Amino acid sequence: MELVVRNTSEVLTCDGPLEGPAEDTLGRVARGAVGVTGGRVVFLGAESELPEGAITSQTTVIDARGGFVGPGFVDCHTHVVFAGDRSDEFEQRCQGKSYLEIAAAGGGIARTVAATREASQEQLVALALPRLTQLLARGVTTAEVKSGYGLDAEAELRTLRAIAALSKAQPVELVATFLGLHAVPPEFKERREAWVRLCVDELLPRIVGEQLASACDAFVEQSAFTHDEARRLAAKAKALGLPLRLHVDQLTANGGAQLAAELGAVSADHLEQISAAGIAAMKQRGTIAVLAPTSTLFARAKPYAPGRALRDAGVLVALCTNCNPGSSNSENVSLAMGLACLENGLTPAEAYLGFTRIGALALSRPELGRLTVGGPADLAIFGCASYRTLPYHLGMNEVAHTIKAGRSVWCA
Ligand code: NIG
Repeated sequence: MELVVRNTSEVLTCDGPLEGPAEDTLGRVARGAVGVTGGRVVFLGAESELPEGAITSQTTVIDARGGFVGPGFVDCHTHVVFAGDRSDEFEQRCQGKSYLEIAAAGGGIARTVAATREASQEQLVALALPRLTQLLARGVTTAEVKSGYGLDAEAELRTLRAIAALSKAQPVELVATFLGLHAVPPEFKERREAWVRLCVDELLPRIVGEQLASACDAFVEQSAFTHDEARRLAAKAKALGLPLRLHVDQLTANGGAQLAAELGAVSADHLEQISAAGIAAMKQRGTIAVLAPTSTLFARAKPYAPGRALRDAGVLVALCTNCNPGSSNSENVSLAMGLACLENGLTPAEAYLGFTRIGALALSRPELGRLTVGGPADLAIFGCASYRTLPYHLGMNEVAHTIKAGRSVWCA
């Protein structure tokens, strides 16, 4: 074998049944080992069962020193490609202004759009690289990245091309999402219909044709886009075979979760304001919930989404950092997990699955976020013996090594 990870407390395959208790989904292998060849897992089991000859003089052996090992994390909702800084808005929120008040006064997404439009593709790549390195250091091997801070045809395409360039420039695998319907661009304030038409009828087919994104998204909110506008996007995405995801019920309650279910969205993201009817609709249609607890904290946009009620209703719950300059300036996976336990009501096992198996499902990439023989060798090796330490050691980084496709790409 090319690589063997041994001397673990346990290996979590995250490959158990999705229905039922999260602890069963974790697929724990006590004192497990992982063997890798050609970027794929070729052995998964107790170290004592490693076949003879598995370790040769050619094998790289990683001693986990009693730490646990699991699949690389999947951060299924980020906006890491942007320019500019909104620390002044953070300060205003600390002084009591709300996220929506700041946006209405000319701040918010529009500020980042202005800065992002000024940046070249190379500058966007350079700005995003350290954010991706932060994610890598926290065990993230796959991250979704949305456009949505360009908001003109050229700047949206430039953002998506920057994401493609970033995919080649660093080890975190990137999954791009077109979020043209993030905010109404300033030039289109009086003719929003023209922006929706441009996004839906011109940009979306072009982006699909050029393979620049593998999903599309819209921010459904009083201050952003309506149900009908999201419906138009959904119809075109369906015709083009592109999965849909939606930002819904984040700042105000408006039946967004029901809309996501109705439109067959793969995921409904945020959900702070979801209703009981929204939970029931998501369960019925199998819509995945993506919770972003660091943005509930950072945007001061409580309540926290009802993670417990979602899980209890049988909805799959993924987690994300939602790393972005306005509502969640954080790449901190373990802080998100800790908040998910403390404030969204998830158990540590449920939070861990939210950043692994279920996060991967939200990206329509079921082979990721789990370990199977023959599957991708994306691993996170931790300095602690149990996954329970991740949310408990609030906001701290327990990752000792990150492995992408069988290659060691980060080491503490
Ligand atoms: O996911 N909700 C909309 N979009 C981002 C926030 C973007 C911003 O404030 O820059 C989010 O929270």
